[in-house]
Amino acid sequence: MLVSAKDMLNKAREGKYAVGQFNINNLEWTKAILLTAQENNSPVILGVSEGAGKYMGGYTTIVGMVNGLIKELNITVPVALHLDHGSYEGALKCIEAGFSSVMFDGSHYPIEENIAKTTELVKLTAEKGLSLEAEVGSIGGEEDGVVGAGEIADANECKTIAELGVTMLAAGIGNIHGKYPENWKGLAFDALEDINAATGTTPLVLHGGTGIPAEMIKKAISLGVAKINVNTECQLAFAEATRKYIEAGKDLEGKGFDPRKLLAPGFEAIKATVKEKMELFGSIGQA
Ligand code: 13P
Repeated sequence: MLVSAKDMLNKAREGKYAVGQFNINNLEWTKAILLTAQENNSPVILGVSEGAGKYMGGYTTIVGMVNGLIKELNITVPVALHLDHGSYEGALKCIEAGFSSVMFDGSHYPIEENIAKTTELVKLTAEKGLSLEAEVGSIGGEEDGVVGAGEIADANECKTIAELGVTMLAAGIGNIHGKYPENWKGLAFDALEDINAATGTTPLVLHGGTGIPAEMIKKAISLGVAKINVNTECQLAFAEATRKYIEAGKDLEGKGFDPRKLLAPGFEAIKATVKEKMELFGSIGQA
């Protein structure tokens, strides 16, 4: 059964570890992440961007697939199904479809509008026992057409949004989606310290988990980060393993073209990436 991300994240914040949000793209992704979480007794959050939602055939399709896998694969660790960088309308649709968690990304609106829309969603998600992620200060880079310049969030704005009663808060601290450029300055820990002090016990969310060095991840967790989003790294691992299989000509041997064989190396590569991240984030054994 899907659960809200609230308990798992409050527990993570208190226990000084983080729960990974791994974005899904299809059945292989979803199955790989769920099985890895179960094998490692780790809570997990499945992230779905609006673009990935469309790609997979809509939110109800995804809810059906995820609930089916949880049942058929006997997944007993806590799993949240979460809308990533949702619009207000997207959040409403996911709530309707049966997601257990949503993100409303109002970071590109003036703060008053971000507050107004977040307030409405706090009410709605609370009524239904779902978790809500809000965002202040946009995350740099591009994800499914949502482009952010990589701002540093204002601690006072973070405080205002946290006090609306959101479950978790994403705050820009120089992090970006996708690969980090050579000249990246690293995470802005001074800003994170201020944001953490201003937002009380609200679990903080670090987007753009791909390519952040391990020491920075650990320091971020020590400063209140309890949820870390990873997407690109699983995509790169999947693509690399699939390329190797094809370059080795394995799709041309016997029934190597069967998708169950062709996609198997990529599936295993996602599992290995997810496990590595769970180890780094400290969520293994915390289910
Ligand atoms: P990466 O693709 O950089 O891992 O970021 C994922 C993310 O933040 C999803 O919201």
